[in-house]
Amino acid sequence: MKIFIVSCSLREGSLNHKLATHIANVVQAQGHEADLARMNEFDMPLYNFDLQESDGWPAGMNAMLDRIMAADGWIIATPEYNWSVPANIKNAIDWISRMKPVPIVGRSVLLTAASPSMTGGVRGLLHFRTSLESLGIWTYPKVFALAQANQAFDDNGALANPDISKMLDGMIADYGSAAVALANR
Ligand code: FNR
Repeated sequence: MKIFIVSCSLREGSLNHKLATHIANVVQAQGHEADLARMNEFDMPLYNFDLQESDGWPAGMNAMLDRIMAADGWIIATPEYNWSVPANIKNAIDWISRMKPVPIVGRSVLLTAASPSMTGGVRGLLHFRTSLESLGIWTYPKVFALAQANQAFDDNGALANPDISKMLDGMIADYGSAAVALANR
């Protein structure tokens, strides 16, 4: 099984990319293939119907879509911006949603977030799942929000708290088996 993992902060020192990297390591340790990316790799303009008509689908959108479609499962690690979804990933989903038929209908996703705050970005994930579900994407029932993420990683980039680490491992394993079943249904 292959899982596509994408982090949705554009900054180099992103805590969400740290979380995504940790998740990729867990996916591999569980015997699966991990394809790790950051949204910087998928640059695209803001959605504009006129641009869609004149220039077609952006190269960055196609590159991201190829990576999503080549995997059995999809894990997103995203910051929460003002209690909601950062523009970069929302914009990518908005572009993809205009394809007919929408290619990501029926795909599945596990949503995760990291924030220095005490809430870990959980509110943004709840907004995000509504948007993804509107497209017919299966979202894993639980979300993983890493609070105080600026203090959460050890020197090797792994989650320092064994209880939190174990909880995430369990979610990834459970999501992985669901993703295979959903991809093969
Ligand atoms: C934030 N941050 C933030 N944090 C949070 O827990 N809830 C929020 O609503 C917001 N809103 C918000 C908006 C904007 C525009 C920025 C730039 C930041 C703080 C945010 O969680 C923090 O900067 C993280 O470190 C961002 O994630 P990366 O870049 O570390 O992955």
